[in-house]
Amino acid sequence: MRIFSGIQPTGIIHIGNYLGALNQWVELQEKNECIFCIVDLHALTAPFDPKTLQDLILEKAIVYLASGIDPEKSIIFVQSQVKEHTELTWLLNTVTPVGDLTRMTQYKEKSKKFKANLNAGLLNYPILMAADILLYQTDVVPVGEDQEQHVELTRTIARKFNQKFGQVFKVPEVKLSKSGARIMSLQEPAKKMSKTDKPESYLGLFDEPEEIKGKIMRAVTDTGRVIKYNPKAKPGISNLLTLYSAFSGKSIKELEKKFKKKGYAEFKKSLAELLVSSLEPFRRKRKELLAREVYVQEILKQGAKRAQVIAQSTLENAKKKMGLT
Ligand code: TYM
Repeated sequence: MRIFSGIQPTGIIHIGNYLGALNQWVELQEKNECIFCIVDLHALTAPFDPKTLQDLILEKAIVYLASGIDPEKSIIFVQSQVKEHTELTWLLNTVTPVGDLTRMTQYKEKSKKFKANLNAGLLNYPILMAADILLYQTDVVPVGEDQEQHVELTRTIARKFNQKFGQVFKVPEVKLSKSGARIMSLQEPAKKMSKTDKPESYLGLFDEPEEIKGKIMRAVTDTGRVIKYNPKAKPGISNLLTLYSAFSGKSIKELEKKFKKKGYAEFKKSLAELLVSSLEPFRRKRKELLAREVYVQEILKQGAKRAQVIAQSTLENAKKKMGLT
């Protein structure tokens, strides 16, 4: 099967991104043909600093590699280096109803946030994402829950195009992680963990041990004392149990039993220790890769070349069907 997914280069990578997306990717690359993109064009829709963009892109390539994405098995590339993405976006714009875009949850949230200078890119963002996915005849898109609606729209766009102009695109399936599809904020556990919130609310994949301990010990928990999974009544503790389970491989039931007679503080201390040791290999690999910039840049260059061959063929086919060639 062909797998495609991507992450924006701006902001840091937190454990929500890891458990929702990256962790699935690492597993999927063993038996599938995987393409993982750093979606720099998507990042232009929110305020950003052109001076730091290249550094952030390189850092995300390092995140992919440090998380276990193997360039021998998977294609890793930067979106803007394969110009077919923007060209197909325009073609798909013409089959996408504006109403489908305005009802996207992410658009509704972001249009409130950026009310003062709402750019058209923010509205058209899911069409660029559809182009990313459809260019590669993707079977499966592994993402976190917040991106599910965009993949649904991608399916609609693919069907619409195929109906109107003839079969060009494969209709992709979404794949959510079993346990980490929606990791919540450490400070406001009713909200998803987000890189645009304050640092205490998320755990960076490369956070140092002291930061990890501090953030976990200060994580907002619920009233009461029992360590029980119940996302509605106890969203804080439930989120921490999800993290514990994801990084230890133990089931929530097992953990409830293990911490039955223990208090929140003891549970948090144990979770912090688990996270410090689980994230250590990421910090170590990152440090190694930071010293090998030329190697990382070469992976991105080769990745773009390989991606472009596939993208070009789909784009040509779409243009032919539309009467453009
Ligand atoms: P982005 O960069 O916001 O997030 C990257 C991935 O992390 C997942 N994620 C989460 N998963 C669990 N819990 C959370 N709190 C959490 N926060 C983020 C996201 O669902 C995503 O999988 N539009 C996309 C990037 C994109 C893309 C694509 C993805 C562009 N083109 C094509 C797949 C296929 C985005 O902004 O993700």
